Amino acid sequence: MKVTIVGAGNVGATCADAIAYRSIASEIVLLDIREGFAEGKALDIMQCATNTGYNTRVSGVTNDYSKTANSDVVVITSGIPRKPGMTREELIGINAGIVKSVAESLLQHSPNAIFVIVSNPMDTMTYLAFKSLGLPKNRIIGMGGALDSSRFRTYLSLALDKPANDISAMVIGGHGDTTMIPLTRLASYNGIPVSQFLSQEQLDKVAADTMVGGATLTALLGTSAWYAPGASVAYLVDSILNNQRKMIACSVFVEGEYGQNDICIGVPCIIGKNGVEEIVDIKLNDAEKALFSKSADAVRSMNDALNT
Ligand code: NAI
Repeated sequence: MKVTIVGAGNVGATCADAIAYRSIASEIVLLDIREGFAEGKALDIMQCATNTGYNTRVSGVTNDYSKTANSDVVVITSGIPRKPGMTREELIGINAGIVKSVAESLLQHSPNAIFVIVSNPMDTMTYLAFKSLGLPKNRIIGMGGALDSSRFRTYLSLALDKPANDISAMVIGGHGDTTMIPLTRLASYNGIPVSQFLSQEQLDKVAADTMVGGATLTALLGTSAWYAPGASVAYLVDSILNNQRKMIACSVFVEGEYGQNDICIGVPCIIGKNGVEEIVDIKLNDAEKALFSKSADAVRSMNDALNT
């Protein structure tokens, strides 16, 4: 299986590293516009192989899309990240041009690939890719919910003082500080609702920390995060390449699901060899439905800036 990652920066290179560690692809191609940069990152990652036990071939190229030919999955991380104080939405002007041209070049060489969109504002970039490529909706997946859900599980794990892997929880809605919806009502620790262990005040704090999880890291690091984003992409790509059919919150084009149309927004999806195999219909309560509708309005108004 072949995976191409465009953008060999913090997130893209970490994706390549995390995918290689999982031994799920025979070949990874990293592509960047910066001369020699992807080549350098790829060589560095390849030199981990003997000490970690994987045999994935990792190569880097400068803007040569012919080397990405016949990829099974392509991941788009190219574009600028946010700086402290910026919202993801402020990146739209620059990143829209980059994502559109990168997506079109990738499709020319990998007509059967499944697209994973990471560049921000991710829901809008996913919508842009969907509209400009004309592919079936199952082949365009925005990665945001996997990361936000892992941040949610981390904050729950800290509040509960229990291992994050024993906690099940999901974030749906838009991938923005004010648009994401951590589903605290449905979060559980070993099958037991977390509300059995945490007060409403504690749950509200966990949800608030989750929503600004990316901004907290941006303030600390001076740029946006990369380890958890890279690991989240690898988790998603693993479910595609190995047809694991995991349920992962992903930004996908909705046609009536959750009462919304003509946007890409985070909903629970079964992810397998065809990309989005199914959108899972979770029964939201009235308050959650209202939050989802508000989130969808915000995503929709951001898409208006695209003029698609
Ligand atoms: P970065 O600046 O470290 O890397 C971006 C790379 O893209 C650079 O190496 C740059 O040379 C390359 N690039 C720019 N234009 C290109 C083009 N036309 N073709 C090929 N490569 C090109 O940024 P970082 O931290 O890796 O973030 C990348 C994107 O991912 C940002 O938009 C960021 O906001 C987003 N992001 C999304 C997350 C999510 O959950 N969806 C999580 C974290 C970051």
